[in-house]
Amino acid sequence: MRKIRHVIEAQQWDRPGLEELFSLTRVMRDSIKHRYPKSRQHAHCLEGYLMASLFYEPSTRTRFSHEAAMIRLGGRVLSTENAEQFSSVSKGETLEDTIRMASSYADVIVLRHKEQGAAARAAAVSRVPVINAGDGAGQHPTQALLDVFTIEDELGGIDDRIIAFVGDLAYGRTVRSLAYLLGKFRPTKLLFVAHEVVRMRPDIKEYLDRHNIPWEELDNLELAARCADVLYVTRIQKERFGDRISEYEEVFGRYIINAELLAMMKEKSIIMHPLPRVNEITTGVDSDPRAAYFRQAENGQYIRMALLHNILNQDCH
Ligand code: CP
Repeated sequence: MRKIRHVIEAQQWDRPGLEELFSLTRVMRDSIKHRYPKSRQHAHCLEGYLMASLFYEPSTRTRFSHEAAMIRLGGRVLSTENAEQFSSVSKGETLEDTIRMASSYADVIVLRHKEQGAAARAAAVSRVPVINAGDGAGQHPTQALLDVFTIEDELGGIDDRIIAFVGDLAYGRTVRSLAYLLGKFRPTKLLFVAHEVVRMRPDIKEYLDRHNIPWEELDNLELAARCADVLYVTRIQKERFGDRISEYEEVFGRYIINAELLAMMKEKSIIMHPLPRVNEITTGVDSDPRAAYFRQAENGQYIRMALLHNILNQDCH
């Protein structure tokens, strides 16, 4: 398996690299869910390694799943969950100096930051691999990896599928990273369902055009729901609107996935969401087999086990 150094953006992957990673992810999943004897060998594979998790923005899934992945592989974790308040950032330390220090104590750094480009800045000064756990409205590449893994796992593949994105497409780093990663496949079409305030940004559209991936913008959620194989729903992120409260209020609550909409969807489709959700998917949808979002979040742990395994110790099979 080829060695990964930093994980900064979704475009850095190619299909053979993804296939290798997903194959290892399945092994990791089996090791946790089924405790296969061969997979049990991974239990101590990162013994002696330290991971620093530096989170400047809140997180449940990304932080817990990286930390769980590291611990399950026998490694240990140094963690600050509110880096702006509980590290020397509160005294004015720069990101670069913080990373220089963390990289002298740990073997890998997982960084979530509010500024786009922060992970690339960190990688430029770090002595150890940096994993981008979300950089503002930029990217969230490990989320895209678990998203693509989930689509493959649930539907058997991405090629010839219609994938509809719904919600905050302008500031949503998960949709941006996933759209970049889907550029490596041959989906039939990507549909972008969003209010004009939060439309998909031009850089993604230009990238998809360059890679000959058809896309279309729609206002009508019902039209998208009827033809989509994957309905990828996102939260309207209040924290990205700053003092533009009226714009946020105009957009919030516009697209809701409920039982009525579910009834319009194909029998073999899935609903995904990077989570957390606010009101964009009603809880009544959760029990439908097409609601894949909790299975999707669980896959995050297995993907991150495979990533950490690759980044830190490729030889421990
Ligand atoms: N999907 C995701 O990034 O969730 P968290 O913000 O809880 O990490």
